[in-house]
Amino acid sequence: MTLPQDRQPPEQELARLKARVQELEAELEQYKGRAGDLDKQLSAERAERQVIESTPPISPTPDLEQTLGRLVKRIAMILQAEKCVFMLHDPEAGELVAQRPAVGLSDEQVKVFRVRATHGASGEAFRDAKPVVLDDAVGDPRTVKENVALLNIRNIATVPLVMETRDEQERVVEKKTIGVLHVFNKRFGGMFSDEDVRLLTIMARQAAAVIASAQLYIELKQEKDKLEATLESILAGVMVVDMKGKVTLVNQAGRRMLGLTQEGEISAPLDEVIPDERIRELVKRSMTSQKESAAEIEVKKPAERVYQGQTTLIRDETGQPTGVVAIFNDISEIRNVERMKSAFVATVSHELRTPLTGIKGFISTLLSDTEGFFDDESRREFYTIIDQECDRLTRLISDLLNVSAIESGRALEVNYTPVDPTSLIEKTVSVQRSYTDKHELRVEIPERLPRIMADEEKLERILTNLMNNATKYSPHGGEVVVRAVREGDSIVVAVRDQGIGVPKDKQTKIFERFERVDTRDTREAGGAGIGLFLVKHMIEAHGGTIGVESEVGNGSTFTFSIPVEPKRAGGGGGSA
Ligand SMILES: Nc1ncnc2c1ncn2[C@@H]1O[C@H](COP(=O)(O)OP(=O)(O)OP(=O)(O)O)[C@@H](O)[C@H]1O
Ligand SMILES: [Mg+2]
Repeated sequence: MTLPQDRQPPEQELARLKARVQELEAELEQYKGRAGDLDKQLSAERAERQVIESTPPISPTPDLEQTLGRLVKRIAMILQAEKCVFMLHDPEAGELVAQRPAVGLSDEQVKVFRVRATHGASGEAFRDAKPVVLDDAVGDPRTVKENVALLNIRNIATVPLVMETRDEQERVVEKKTIGVLHVFNKRFGGMFSDEDVRLLTIMARQAAAVIASAQLYIELKQEKDKLEATLESILAGVMVVDMKGKVTLVNQAGRRMLGLTQEGEISAPLDEVIPDERIRELVKRSMTSQKESAAEIEVKKPAERVYQGQTTLIRDETGQPTGVVAIFNDISEIRNVERMKSAFVATVSHELRTPLTGIKGFISTLLSDTEGFFDDESRREFYTIIDQECDRLTRLISDLLNVSAIESGRALEVNYTPVDPTSLIEKTVSVQRSYTDKHELRVEIPERLPRIMADEEKLERILTNLMNNATKYSPHGGEVVVRAVREGDSIVVAVRDQGIGVPKDKQTKIFERFERVDTRDTREAGGAGIGLFLVKHMIEAHGGTIGVESEVGNGSTFTFSIPVEPKRAGGGGGSA
């Protein structure tokens, strides 16, 4: 047997083959390496995609804990870390504070895990906004040893949590480091690689976005709560109805005005919520016509009130109406005053005519008495009556002028002079005595009163008004007592009668303008309803107060105080 010519001897052939195998082996290694690289790249990309996909879109009501919980679990899994936790910066404490949810840390551990924002691996990553990787957490001088021991940390990868604010073109306009994201203890005895850090950085961005959106949500919620609290506290009633006719909001004033008993949120059809048909009509009219509407609505229940209802449409940014907002203002008082004003015009006309008729009557009588039928004494009596009636007219007109001055916001002017209250009271009472023979008018001044600084003319008007009321509203006569004493820095005067009295529910009202108690007795007595209004303002202009104690059928006592010395500026008390 012969070997072919080209055949080399077997030893050489073996060596060549061996070399070739080696070559191929090396090539294989190379390919292996490249495949490994590709594999890594692939898994990294896959992980990245997974993270991005698993991050929920920024929703208006993110359940922060749940979302972050999913995120930290995923991070720990992808990076093969035993523990994963993020820390947020608390600017007030100057600390980084661990947050729930975490992986591989008990709630207790999370609670106590915090570091100064300048300390340890956390501080470094936060301060420099750069990743930090430590292969030997125990030996490395940069770690905080208590935390390393507490959490049993072997190695660490930490990246900053950076919150990015973007403009409309999605360009980053602001970056703010809000904390750090940690993974600890690579599984299976490994170390965290650069690749791990790259992944961790991507995931930190996602986490920061979630936290930022949650913060935004919290801020929005606070803003909303504030708005709701404002809406709840305003006096006008507000109701919002969507285009399907469902009531979505009624504020507190609205619930009261519309007589709704349910508390809290309302979400029900208009027809079920609102018992009053006119209110439903008002809203529906706006809805169908897509225009604003208004109506005055008188309700009997829960109380007799008049509401001015107005509606407007709520529109979205495209101008489409999305609902109707109805606003109710209580105009009962305005209507009441209007009613009182017309009643007032009627009484004033009557009040003016009464003295005028008297004056005219007596003057005509005197003029027509060409034969001297009346003697001097009678003539004198006539002149006195004319004189008194003229005074009554002058007083009424000056009262009216004062009311309009107070109404237009002008303060009553007080011309202070020294006044002796005792002689003023005695003088006024004796004038009043001349007007009545049915009543016994008495003055009670147990102790000497000091001179006071006051407006004498106003003080006289106050007393006259109160005494005039006391006799006017005691149609069956009786005693009227004016009692004055000193109490501290004030003179206190009480005018007491035994007349018809003032019902409890009217005892504050009667001091308002045009307010009268409407009974047969008071109608017969006549009056414009401005006496006490002026009295109160004149007293308050002096820095004093007035009140009434009374029982129907058992008389009334009006008590007022006037300071001995006017209070200096800032002492308060002045009004109108
Ligand atoms: N002493 C009193 N006893 C009972 N009712 C009183 C007394 N004083 C006032 N009132 C009630 O208070 C109302 C308001 O009194 P006020 O003096 O302001 O008006 P008026 O007497 O009706 O008219 P005027 O403007 O002429 O004084 C009266 O209409 C009356 O109903
Ligand atoms: Mg009066």
